[in-house]
Amino acid sequence: MLYLTRCLVPLIVLAVIWRQVSQADSSETTKEKIAIIGAGAGGSSCAYYLQRYSNHSYDITVFEKNCYIGGRSTTINVHDDPRWPVEVGASVFVKVNFNLVAAAREFELKVQSYGSRKVRGKDGLAIEDLFGIWDGRKFVFMQCSESSWQSAIKLLYQYGTSPVRAHLLYKKTSTSFLALYSQDYFPFANLTEISRSRNLTNITSETTFDYCTGHGLSAGYVNDIIQAATIVNYAQSVKQIHALGGFVCLAVDEALEIEGGNWQIFEKMLQKSGATVRLGTEVSGIDTSTKSSGKWNINIADSDKVEEFDQVIIAAPYYQTGIGGVPLQIKDAQYMTLYVTLFTSTKRLSSTYFGLKPGVPVPAMIFTTLPDDEQAGSHVRPWFNAISIIHYIPDRKEYVYKIFSPSRITPEFLRLIFDKGAEFSWVYEKIWDAYPRLDPISNFSDWKVDNGGIWYLNGIEQFISTMETSSLAGANVAALIVGANNKTVVSVP
Ligand SMILES: Cc1cc2nc3c(=O)[nH]c(=O)nc-3n(C[C@H](O)[C@H](O)[C@H](O)COP(=O)(O)OP(=O)(O)OC[C@H]3O[C@@H](n4cnc5c(N)ncnc54)[C@H](O)[C@@H]3O)c2cc1C
Ligand SMILES: *[C@@H]1O[C@H](CO)[C@@H](O)[C@H](O)[C@H]1NC(C)=O
Ligand SMILES: *[C@@H]1O[C@H](CO)[C@@H](O)[C@H](O)[C@H]1NC(C)=O
Ligand SMILES: *[C@@H]1O[C@H](CO)[C@@H](O)[C@H](O)[C@H]1NC(C)=O
Ligand SMILES: *[C@@H]1O[C@H](CO)[C@@H](O)[C@H](O)[C@H]1NC(C)=O
Ligand SMILES: *[C@@H]1O[C@H](CO)[C@@H](O)[C@H](O)[C@H]1NC(C)=O
Ligand SMILES: *[C@@H]1O[C@H](CO)[C@@H](O)[C@H](O)[C@H]1NC(C)=O
Repeated sequence: MLYLTRCLVPLIVLAVIWRQVSQADSSETTKEKIAIIGAGAGGSSCAYYLQRYSNHSYDITVFEKNCYIGGRSTTINVHDDPRWPVEVGASVFVKVNFNLVAAAREFELKVQSYGSRKVRGKDGLAIEDLFGIWDGRKFVFMQCSESSWQSAIKLLYQYGTSPVRAHLLYKKTSTSFLALYSQDYFPFANLTEISRSRNLTNITSETTFDYCTGHGLSAGYVNDIIQAATIVNYAQSVKQIHALGGFVCLAVDEALEIEGGNWQIFEKMLQKSGATVRLGTEVSGIDTSTKSSGKWNINIADSDKVEEFDQVIIAAPYYQTGIGGVPLQIKDAQYMTLYVTLFTSTKRLSSTYFGLKPGVPVPAMIFTTLPDDEQAGSHVRPWFNAISIIHYIPDRKEYVYKIFSPSRITPEFLRLIFDKGAEFSWVYEKIWDAYPRLDPISNFSDWKVDNGGIWYLNGIEQFISTMETSSLAGANVAALIVGANNKTVVSVP
């Protein structure tokens, strides 16, 4: 087995694969064969919904080049200790993410509010909910440990009616988007058209800054508060990211996570689908030579093996897949490079570095914005997008920190933001092609990307890039493939 050398697939997984392959050989040969490339939120959801809508009438193979299920949704154990898994990629979803919430319920996964494992109390080392917005020189906003009505008044004083207006715009947009789940619209054959008809293209075709200031929000509020949200969520400024992307970042009420890791939703979906999951197996090409017979050949990297399928679903950002062989009608998207650095220390960030009086705790969550004069080019961008304490480990009296940044976090940088003597007992770095550049846009890739049976899910990321929307894209393409007219059967979640 070639992929054993590429990736240490646990033998148990192999045993499952072998069993399923042999079943497929005997009893499932008459079923239509579907290949799904990618076992992230999109590919897993597609497999799950294909079988749910069709009463398990497909023979599905999922190819995944990584050694794990989940793609950009994955955890790492702090100190290698399974008691302390932390998200490296997608960390939160919200209550209106209907597909994820329904799946968590079906699979009896424990949904908890985001960050509830931070652990407070007992030994006095609780982590406050304080957050601050840093512009590289000073905090432009700080939520103090006052009661919440006091901070509400402070926000009102500082930004006038902008917070309320922002909330109303967000609500309106959210309602317009959520209609896509209804029987009236799901499944949608054409994202470009549904976005237009729901008046969402107005919002995707302008920058967050232009759209918000055009709807009565103050430039100060958009630059300070909304920009902190667009930088932490998508590593993009309000003058670049489209307004739908901007509003997604404002969806913060009732942030949720799956205890132990969000990837479990996708693992359970694949299990339920009965798909053959081939981990450590990279698809290198799609071969058209058999297209006339309505079949597609899939080429596996480092292998001469060719496998034949009736339909192929590409469930990964196309230009990252390295797949060649067929010219597909896919709109290019540039992805943002993001460094996620996780580390532990018994110490808190340096108050002096962050311009606070000694002894005043630095906020547990620091978001960043660009200073007013950034356009003039007189300022170096902040060195990080966000720093937050995501856990406290009582046994070791250690905080677990997470930094998002556009470049590598060096030891020198850590020495700068901590006081002398701070030690880092565990450090982990992951570099992602995290999400697309969300420049204003009004046309999206079609689901069908050639004239035969090749489908593409990740065009939706230029509309909204989240686990939920990738899952929705998977369900949508599954519904289009099944082609059922019964809206009770073909529905989300
Ligand atoms: C740091 C970070 C934070 C984020 N935070 C959030 C968040 O809080 N909430 C949220 O909802 N979203 C968040 N996101 C976005 C979210 O992770 C993605 O939108 C979503 O997971 C995309 O799922 P997907 O299945 O479309 O793609 P992916 O998860 O990227 O899955 C694609 C899979 O395809 C595989 N693949 C690629 N090419 C090949 C090939 N040739 N052969 C075989 N397999 C291949 C890849 O290995 C990968 O596993 C975050 C992303 C990052 C990086
Ligand atoms: C689904 O398929 C199974 C086995 O083929 C069959 O027994 C069952 O009746 C089917 N269910 C529906 C709702 O069609
Ligand atoms: C989707 O709609 C857009 C805009 O109307 C159109 O240009 C495109 O061809 C449509 N795609 C398909 C597959 O019909
Ligand atoms: C979109 O905007 C038009 C023009 O204002 C309006 O008539 C229509 O009802 C709106 N549609 C939705 C879905 O909000
Ligand atoms: C979207 O744009 C159209 C045409 O410019 C306009 O009529 C409509 O009111 C806008 N809808 C929203 C929700 O802003
Ligand atoms: C893209 O959108 C623009 C504006 O909505 C439209 O004029 C153009 O025809 C679209 N292009 C394609 C290829 O669909
Ligand atoms: C649609 O499917 C549901 C669930 O299987 C079933 O109860 C219903 O009768 C079906 N409706 C039609 C019109 O076939």
